[in-house]
Amino acid sequence: MPAARSFSRLPGFRDFAPADLALRSHVFDTWRRVARSYGFGEYDGPPLEPLGLYVEKSGDEIVGQLYTFSDKGGREVALRPEMTPTLARMLAGRSRGMPKPIRWFSIPQLFRYERSQRGRLREHFQLNVDIVGEAGVAADAEVLAVAIDALRGLGLGEDDFVARVNDRRLVTAVLTAAGAPRGTHSGCLAVIDKAARAGPERSRAGLEALGLSSPTVDTLAEILADGSRDHLADRFRDSAPVTDAMRPLDEHRSILEAMGLGAYLQFDFTVVRGLAYYTGIVFELFDRAGELRAICGGGRYDRLLELVGGEPLPAVGFGMGDVVLGELLRDRDLVPDAAPACDYYVIWVGPEQRALGLETGHRLRAAGHSVMYSLRSQGVGKQLKAASRAGARQALIIGPDEAAAASATVRDMKTGIQETRPLQSLPEQEIPPPATGRNP
Ligand code: HAM
Repeated sequence: MPAARSFSRLPGFRDFAPADLALRSHVFDTWRRVARSYGFGEYDGPPLEPLGLYVEKSGDEIVGQLYTFSDKGGREVALRPEMTPTLARMLAGRSRGMPKPIRWFSIPQLFRYERSQRGRLREHFQLNVDIVGEAGVAADAEVLAVAIDALRGLGLGEDDFVARVNDRRLVTAVLTAAGAPRGTHSGCLAVIDKAARAGPERSRAGLEALGLSSPTVDTLAEILADGSRDHLADRFRDSAPVTDAMRPLDEHRSILEAMGLGAYLQFDFTVVRGLAYYTGIVFELFDRAGELRAICGGGRYDRLLELVGGEPLPAVGFGMGDVVLGELLRDRDLVPDAAPACDYYVIWVGPEQRALGLETGHRLRAAGHSVMYSLRSQGVGKQLKAASRAGARQALIIGPDEAAAASATVRDMKTGIQETRPLQSLPEQEIPPPATGRNP
């Protein structure tokens, strides 16, 4: 036999013991409930895709983080780092003839070879919600409402998180009005994207490195220092393209305000999104204290479907990760109670009652209850202890007298109160629903 070897988990990957999985399932259940409440249908795709799908569509940052290899057939493949190219590929092949707009959601596991740090791992799960085939700003507002409600459904409120919103068309209009030549715009976007973390000096140096003129650098540095909507409106009041580019954001806000979600919105000129395919309104959700990485990011990407060979369809959506969200839920004490729980623990006093105990337990399971019992022969005291450890709500004790009368002694494990009941009456009994967290 080969010598024993121990293996540790790969960095940036997670194990999910039942207590961890309880939180993940709670998050997924809430995501599904909220997405369905807006009429979205769930889809999935393969975790492995042709490498080219990302090289051409996602942008350099993600491509540098791909898990990629040649398969045994010589194909260059990659583990999916995001879901949007898969969605675009799937719809490119089937959207013709489908009623629009298409509302689809998914909860894929994604893989990015990132430097592991708080809130960033090498795998994560992401709720993806997308509307395809609707160009109007109501669709942008609708997906952001889903993102906000997905967090509200987990017990988070306006004191806990904020949605920072911007529009790539507005950024382009501002860059043009500030005198930045078109060829420098993607470089400018990269500087703006990192401005909050880099600080004013490094941002200025980044702009200068693009070869922009001093007045342009000054104007952009001024906007990065105060990118409020009022300041922008005032600074560029003579630029019709900038003023026009603000209108969709105003309408977006008024729709979300009508839904009662206005308190979650904040205009933020530095939100431009790292991914290459966004074309319009973009947004990111952050914890209100600003201590964590983004919980969610998304926006409008009107050209992607066409770029993967489909009909030209406008699209808008977001991805919400489970990693930062889990940290926030733990911080706010909004994690469900993962203690094991079962409805009935069946205890037989001696081996003669075992068959009746097994039959009763099985009947209760068939009626939808969770049932456990000891897998080895034990005294009643030990079985009661095991029932308590298992989080059982009731113990059903079957001894010779109970067996003779086709009954069981039913013990409430919390109060210790016991009563004798006919076995046949048991499935009808009301078992209170398990406590699964602090949220309603
Ligand atoms: P993204 O901004 O790259 O967007 O990712 C969205 C969210 O996924 C982030 O805000 C974060 O919560 C989570 N996330 C991303 N990378 C990691 C990581 N390494 N570890 C943990 N969590 C992570 C997209 O992926 C777009 N495809 C979203 C989209 C859908 N846009 C339109 N539709």
